[in-house]
Amino acid sequence: MTAPKKLYIKTYGCQMNVYDSERMAEALGGEGYVETSRPDDADMILLNTCHIREKAAEKVYSELGRFRGLKAANPDLKIGVAGCVAQAEGEEIMRRQPLVDLVVGPQSYHRLPEMEAKTRAGEKALDTDFPEEDKFEKLKSRPKAKRGPTAFLTVQEGCDKFCAFCVVPYTRGAEVSRPVDRILTEARDLVERGVREITLLGQNVNAYHGAGPDGDWSLARLIWALNDVDGLERIRFTTSHPNDMADDLIEAHADCPKLMPYLHLPVQSGSDRILKRMNRSHTAESYLKLIERLRAARPDLHMSGDFIVGFPEETEQDFQDTLALVEAVQYGSAFSFKYSTRPGTPAAERSQVDEAEKDDRLQRLQALLTRQQRALQDAMVGREVGVLFEKPGRLPGQMVGKSDYLHAVHVDSDAVVPGDLARVRIVSSGPNSLAGEVLG
Ligand code: 5AD
Ligand code: SF4
Repeated sequence: MTAPKKLYIKTYGCQMNVYDSERMAEALGGEGYVETSRPDDADMILLNTCHIREKAAEKVYSELGRFRGLKAANPDLKIGVAGCVAQAEGEEIMRRQPLVDLVVGPQSYHRLPEMEAKTRAGEKALDTDFPEEDKFEKLKSRPKAKRGPTAFLTVQEGCDKFCAFCVVPYTRGAEVSRPVDRILTEARDLVERGVREITLLGQNVNAYHGAGPDGDWSLARLIWALNDVDGLERIRFTTSHPNDMADDLIEAHADCPKLMPYLHLPVQSGSDRILKRMNRSHTAESYLKLIERLRAARPDLHMSGDFIVGFPEETEQDFQDTLALVEAVQYGSAFSFKYSTRPGTPAAERSQVDEAEKDDRLQRLQALLTRQQRALQDAMVGREVGVLFEKPGRLPGQMVGKSDYLHAVHVDSDAVVPGDLARVRIVSSGPNSLAGEVLG
């Protein structure tokens, strides 16, 4: 028997990349690869890249440059670039960095085994197509090994919204939903392997409209079907667009027992003028109305969001509108970014806000968001919540997990093990987590 080949994957960016990296490791597992955590030990290095932040491509090139020594020491080492930078840069990557053997876009991962074979034959392999076939169907199914209690499951990819700042419609392509039966099969398989919580992933997940046994299903119908999977305890989904928040999905937040009371619903800005320039096709008021309806359905819903400050032409008044919207919503968590240009997107051509001004606005917004986040977290003290335990904590005897609202919670208890879902009384609130006691 030959020794297994070793695969080192480094994952950047969003949860979808985390999921994709798992699937790529499984696909190459079928070719005799096992994963290693050390690049210097690897027969193949794969960078699964993200294009959402500024200078993403430059960072990938500098990371690749660092592998020069490894390749000199081991000429059989193959180096690959996957993910959104691979999609955006394509062949340019091999031109600029001859060390690279393989470039694969997110829609072509099922072709990795053939591509790997090509590199072993001494050739370069490039695939950034948007093929017709379902890549997930072609990828080897997940092996039955035990795994942790939480998992991601991609149900939808790509986006048709074309927000003026965003590269996703270009790197991930048009919106495509996976069929219902494949998702349910994968979910049952995950549960058999120990998973208790599934987060459904998609760049625009609430636009889901996958083929079901009786026509296209909405995301809400899919969630209801998952609600019936025995052994699955919790369902989450991310990330959503306000305009795709259908009535049945709002109702599911009221009625579906396994759907967790946490919703990531990016708004990006609180100024209607800027929202229009962003091509968001919703207003601050329509977003607030939507949240009112969601909270009428589920009063304890924790809201999360994404914000961009310093979008081209954003004035201080526009920014004040964003602060006012944040005040109105009261976010349980949030992600905020300074606008940065993405070549090829409409906003890249417009007049840019001064960098110092962007820094200042980001600081002010983050101060407000942090205060809100902390206030909502502190308000958990004294309450009872469900906690799904995931792993031992940093201190001896500690276990950590996530509350229904996605707070990190730790307990000092040997009564719980990873995978247990327990009722916990929250006793204190720290900077980034809650402490609790397991209830009998
Ligand atoms: N500049 C800053 N932030 C951006 N995002 C997407 N594109 C850009 C950009 N060009 C943010 C948005 C999105 C999140 C994933 O990243 O807030 O919701
Ligand atoms: Fe990008 Fe999200 Fe807008 Fe789609 S909806 S273009 S993924 S920001």
